[in-house]
Amino acid sequence: MPRLERVPEPHIDYAYGIFLLDNKHNLIKALKKRYQPSIHGHKTWGSSFVLMDYLTHHGLRRGAHVMEIGCGWGPASVFCGRHFKAKMTAVDLDSAVFPFLDVLAELNGVEVEHLQADFTKVKSAELAGQRYIVGSDICFWDSLVKPLGRLVNRAFKAGVERVVITDPGRPTFYEFCDLMAKKHDAKLQEWYAIEPERYEGEVLDIRPKKQ
Ligand SMILES: C[S@@+](CC[C@H](N)C(=O)[O-])C[C@H]1O[C@@H](n2cnc3c(N)ncnc32)[C@H](O)[C@@H]1O
Repeated sequence: MPRLERVPEPHIDYAYGIFLLDNKHNLIKALKKRYQPSIHGHKTWGSSFVLMDYLTHHGLRRGAHVMEIGCGWGPASVFCGRHFKAKMTAVDLDSAVFPFLDVLAELNGVEVEHLQADFTKVKSAELAGQRYIVGSDICFWDSLVKPLGRLVNRAFKAGVERVVITDPGRPTFYEFCDLMAKKHDAKLQEWYAIEPERYEGEVLDIRPKKQ
């Protein structure tokens, strides 16, 4: 069982070593009056906790450059920054998510760089500096499956070592898994998180095939 961490005020959660704010927290309510994320980036999704739990067991090298794609409020970026001292770049198409990410990063004392971009179009030059790519709940439309696959292919060509994506188990995610299994060393597992409460999901850990 995890150590009990008392939170300083209501509507703050604590999970995997980071503090999070829920939708009823005054800071979030104030931000929501000014910024309205419109591609589902309006909360912390359960798959981000599945990713945190998985990375707790199958971690990243400390201090590595890591890109989070479809970051939303960036809980996974903040976790990697805090837990692995990762140098994070958080990518999202929707610029309205970044003020929420900034508050979360500040609250946890980590720095996260933003990149407002379509993750399916991130260029090889931008991928080349990254050791890992992570993402949670980012394959929810048919139109994302193949472009996300091409991004992973580009990333491995550019020198990325590993891509880890979690999902609640959407059909589009399983299509993506099939695509990855044809080309790479892709391990799909069921996983669950226990903080701040129980969430179940899937994790796909992808590495380039050994030649
Ligand atoms: C379901 S939310 C997940 C957010 C976060 N990863 C989490 O688990 O809490 C999906 C996120 O992906 C972003 N997104 C969707 N399509 C995108 C694309 N093509 N390029 C970059 N970001 C995208 C959305 O803006 C949103 O923030």
